[in-house]
Amino acid sequence: MAPTVLITGASQGIGKATALLFARQGYDLILAARHAEALEEVALEIQQLGRSALSIPTDVKEPEQVKDLVQKALNYYGAVDVLVNNAGIYVSGPVEEFSLKDWHDTIDLNFWGYIHTIQELLPHFLERGRGTIVNLSSIGGKVPLPYVTPYCASKFAVTGLTKSLQAELCPKGIHVCGIYPNLIKSGFMERAIFRGHDAEDAQARRDQLNTILKVPVVEKPEDVAKAIWDGVAHKKTEVVVGSANIGATVNKVFPGLMQWFFRQSQKP
Ligand SMILES: NC(=O)c1ccc[n+]([C@@H]2O[C@H](COP(=O)([O-])OP(=O)(O)OC[C@H]3O[C@@H](n4cnc5c(N)ncnc54)[C@H](OP(=O)(O)O)[C@@H]3O)[C@@H](O)[C@H]2O)c1
Repeated sequence: MAPTVLITGASQGIGKATALLFARQGYDLILAARHAEALEEVALEIQQLGRSALSIPTDVKEPEQVKDLVQKALNYYGAVDVLVNNAGIYVSGPVEEFSLKDWHDTIDLNFWGYIHTIQELLPHFLERGRGTIVNLSSIGGKVPLPYVTPYCASKFAVTGLTKSLQAELCPKGIHVCGIYPNLIKSGFMERAIFRGHDAEDAQARRDQLNTILKVPVVEKPEDVAKAIWDGVAHKKTEVVVGSANIGATVNKVFPGLMQWFFRQSQKP
C-alpha cells in the first residue's frame, strides 16, 4: 500500500504544488478545497503521474464537512499517513478598518480550519501510534508585522498550536511540523482581503503587494512544497523557507527593524 497524504487547499498554489510533489514521491492523495472543478484538474494531473487521487470538495471552516472528508478518506484508503493543513487566506490593512466578519473569515479558516482536521484525524493517528501533521504558518507567525494584524494573529496561533502539539504528541509517535514561508508568488491575491481608510486606499494596498509579487526573487509554491517534503521526510519540527530565514534572523538581531520597514512601506 502506498502512503497517503491529505492536503487542504490543494486546488492551487502551495497546496497543489505539494500534492504534485508528494505524488512524485509515491504518495496517494486526498485533495480538499471548496471548488470541485479545480480540485478535479489537480486529481487528473496526479493520476497522469500514476498515483491515485481522491478529490473531496470541502469547506474546512465547517466541522461537519471536515468530518465527512476524513471519513471518506479513511473509507477509501483505509489509512491516512500525513495531514497537510494548508488552506488559508491573507488579509491586510489598518487594524481599525477590519470588521468582525474580516476577523472571523481569517481566524475561522487559518486557525479553526486546522483544528477541524486535527480533531478528526488525531484519533486515527493515536490508534496507529504514528502519523504526521504539517501546519502551514508563515514568517508572520514568527515575526509580528504591522498592517496584517488578523493574519499574524492567526499564524501566531498556528505556531502555538504546532509547538503545543509537538510537545504532547511526539512521545506518542506523532510527528508535527511547522512551515514558515515568506511572501510566495501563488494565486492568494484572488481571495485576499484588503482594507483601507476608503476603497481607493484599499486598492492602493492591493496594487502595492501586486507590484512586490512581480519581483523575480519572490519564491514560488514549489519552493514551499520542497520545504514541506523536507519536513516530512526528515521528521523536522519546523522548516523556515528560503528568504524567510533572513526575516527571522533580522528580527532576532535587530528587533523592531522589520516592523519599522513595514510601517514605512504602508500609509498609516
Ligand atoms: N502565498 C504566500 O505569500 C504565503 C506566505 C506564507 C504562508 N502562506 C500560507 O500558505 C498557505 C497556502 O497559501 P497559498 O498562497 O498557496 O494560497 P492560495 O493560492 O490562495 O490557495 C488557497 C487554497 O485554499 C483553498 N481554500 C480557501 N478557502 C478554503 C476553505 N474555506 N476550505 C477549504 N479550502 C479553502 C483554495 O481553494 P477554494 O477557493 O476552491 O476553496 C485554494 O486551494 C496558507 O495557509 C497561507 O497563509 C502563504
